[in-house]
Amino acid sequence: MNRFEPNLRIPGPTSLPDAVREAGARQMVNHRGPEFATLQNGIIERLKAFYKTQNDVLIVTAAGTGGLESAIVSFLSPGDKVLAVTIGAFGDRFAKIATVYGANVTKLSFEWGKAADPAKVREALTADGPWKAVLLTQNETSTAVTNPIKELAEVVTDAAPDALVIVDAISGLGAVPFETDEWKLDVVVSGSQKAWMVAPGLSFVSVSPRAWDAAAAAKMPKFYFDLAAHRTSAEAGQTPWTPAVAVMFQLDVALNMMEQEGLDDIWKRHAAVGAAVRAGLTTLGFKLLADPAYASNTVTGAWIPEDLEWKAFNGKLRKLGLIVAGGQGALKGKIFRIGHLGHVTVPSILNAMAVLEQTLIELGRPVVPGTAVQAAQVAALKSLGLAK
Ligand SMILES: Cc1ncc(COP(=O)(O)O)c(C=O)c1O
Repeated sequence: MNRFEPNLRIPGPTSLPDAVREAGARQMVNHRGPEFATLQNGIIERLKAFYKTQNDVLIVTAAGTGGLESAIVSFLSPGDKVLAVTIGAFGDRFAKIATVYGANVTKLSFEWGKAADPAKVREALTADGPWKAVLLTQNETSTAVTNPIKELAEVVTDAAPDALVIVDAISGLGAVPFETDEWKLDVVVSGSQKAWMVAPGLSFVSVSPRAWDAAAAAKMPKFYFDLAAHRTSAEAGQTPWTPAVAVMFQLDVALNMMEQEGLDDIWKRHAAVGAAVRAGLTTLGFKLLADPAYASNTVTGAWIPEDLEWKAFNGKLRKLGLIVAGGQGALKGKIFRIGHLGHVTVPSILNAMAVLEQTLIELGRPVVPGTAVQAAQVAALKSLGLAK
């Protein structure tokens, strides 16, 4: 056990503000009673503001993957043609869920570290069809890349207008600019443990009228993840199954905080911390994985240099209280990732940079103390318009 408060810099679960933690300790309420109905109705209305949507938003008690599964089983039938656009491990997972349930999935994969190319998506859509759905990842957490969802959705609307646009926005929604209705996104999934600053356990799914029409004809087997059942229950202020009430209490408080800060300032803060992490890591000599034009403002991935022993490096980071994430899938052992979403400030990033500097110095690397901290702070100030 480290006796210092760790700086949890993984891309979710994020650390929780104290008031959010305390909310999770509240006494239970009857989940079929009026208190819960008021709680859920309020949360849903406020989530819609962050989603920027007039569509239904449903709360599913599940990890984000459950939210993705609910989107597949609720709107599709076995044999449906689905284009799964993937730029990393989570895009691959989304494609796999659709495949497991019997969809006819065509995978369009892009090199890890790159964003999806709208022109290539258009090519794939026009080469075949008719498409029932296109699966997109807003923010690919495994590669630290944010896709141009607006442009990708435009291509789908144009080249395959009947296809549902289903988006995994689990690790970006609530942190970086996103417009569900303006971008014509039919189904958008997010997860409580990411930008929302609450514990894992809830997944949110927005559903357009078009997607509800598809739901009426969808034949995938489903029970727990049937979103139509969630809609019916939500109309009565309930959920079909017992919800994660404590996480709902937390979300209620976290949404208050997010509203107080305001969406624009939340987006600016994430842009600043993203810039800070990229500048700090680059100053330390790390090469970043993501194409700079599409670098994520919620997570950053850096290659582990060949002459740096990951276990010793990570062990020292942990000792100093900095918890970072490793690579996933094909990138396991090759990269490390720093999460910077939700409950994150520029000073918490400067702390991370100081720990990285000290660790590298302990390992005998020629790092000048303070250089990464300074580069990170300057980048954040520039991003905030406070420095040239
Ligand atoms: C982009 C993305 N999709 C899906 C998931 C899966 O979410 P969960 O781990 O909550 O099932 C994650 C989790 O990190 C993610 O970042």
